[in-house]
Amino acid sequence: MFSTPHATLAVTDTHKSALRRALRVTASEKWDLNRRFPLVMSRASGAHVWDVDGRRYVDLTSCSGAAPLGAGYEPVVDHVVSELRRTGGILPGPLSVHRIELAERLAEIFPRAQRSLFFRTGSCATTAAIRLARAHMGTNLVLTSGYHGWHDWHLQDRPAMGLPDRDRDSVDFRYDLDLFEKLSGEQRVAAVIITPEVNFFPPEYHRELQNLVHRRGALLILDEVMTGFRYGLGGYHTAVGLAPDLITLSKGLANGMALSAVAGRAEVLNAAEKTYLGNTYQREITPFAAALSTLDALRNGAALARMRQVGMQIINGLNGVFASQQVRARAFAWPTMFDVVFANADLGFAFFQEMWSRGFLMQYGGRFMPSAALSDADVQAAIEAAGQALPAALVRLESTGRDTDLMAAAVRFAGDHFLATADSVRRWFTEPSHP
Ligand SMILES: Cc1ncc(COP(=O)(O)O)c(C=O)c1O
Repeated sequence: MFSTPHATLAVTDTHKSALRRALRVTASEKWDLNRRFPLVMSRASGAHVWDVDGRRYVDLTSCSGAAPLGAGYEPVVDHVVSELRRTGGILPGPLSVHRIELAERLAEIFPRAQRSLFFRTGSCATTAAIRLARAHMGTNLVLTSGYHGWHDWHLQDRPAMGLPDRDRDSVDFRYDLDLFEKLSGEQRVAAVIITPEVNFFPPEYHRELQNLVHRRGALLILDEVMTGFRYGLGGYHTAVGLAPDLITLSKGLANGMALSAVAGRAEVLNAAEKTYLGNTYQREITPFAAALSTLDALRNGAALARMRQVGMQIINGLNGVFASQQVRARAFAWPTMFDVVFANADLGFAFFQEMWSRGFLMQYGGRFMPSAALSDADVQAAIEAAGQALPAALVRLESTGRDTDLMAAAVRFAGDHFLATADSVRRWFTEPSHP
């Protein structure tokens, strides 16, 4: 999947020692260092974050999408602190006024969300959605595409991540509608769960999939952990007119606090009576308080509009840099959650490593998820840094950056990052045009 070693930032002895301690007691070399930023971080404010050396970075990921309003967004922090003081942070029973109010608010924002159940992580929400679908349908086969978290049931097709044969009733159709038909065959299918990879697969793709799912009498689960509060208010399905039976939500719901939800048709959620989905920390009040204030802040659309604006500026700025230096690479497509694909993936890794060392956090194969807290100065500085990072990466790799074709790179990228088949990418992906 990823091949390039992590960045060699000129770190201080303090930082090196913190990294060594991390490796000794907690860090995974593969996941935390090679595939993320090899930094020990210390504090954050808005779109800025500081490492243990006190160096400041601009976060272009909103903390993996978790904090769209930026770190320490005051109305959210104030509400969390006051509820922490008023309640102690957790109540003995799982039902709180906060939980009821949040479920009602989700029903207003997402018309499909007649009922909601709450968890802490996206992985828990998607796993609960699968359990509910199986319990409701009385059958087990689940077809899946895209990443849904670290739980066993869907990682078997990703040897680097999962354990094989953990859930023989869940099969990855890799965004390929022909493979979908082949895999489902004559069997009864409980549900299809898909993460909308909006930069690669257009709304027509999802509508065609929905037709196939309905024809089979299966449930459609849209994993909106990434898109729920980032694609648009009401999520991806509302924006493009899909009617999923269940949706899963998490990133951005509570602006950085751990909270996730399965929401959807009451009839399907009622299958919770046939199984057990209780979890101790649904009693915790602070994430619900954070969510209620986050939804207040998102309500008028201004934060999303700002995210779209800065996203578009960065897309245009990066594409300008790629074009001016004649490098085959492209930033595209949905401004609040865009991807960057390099024809030469090694150059992509090197480019982002050069960006880290200039103070801009983003990794190749990750996704740009700008927060509303990014200033115009942050954006300008990021584009200027890209203009310096690209030649530095070219020199490092002794590359011209002009090699191979971008469609082949997009096929590789989608295969590596969300297991899409080459046929499905070639059929649905439109190569972004030059700026
Ligand atoms: C679409 C999608 N589903 C599920 C998850 C899993 O969420 P978590 O990491 O909170 O378990 C993620 C995380 O990146 C995601 O992007």
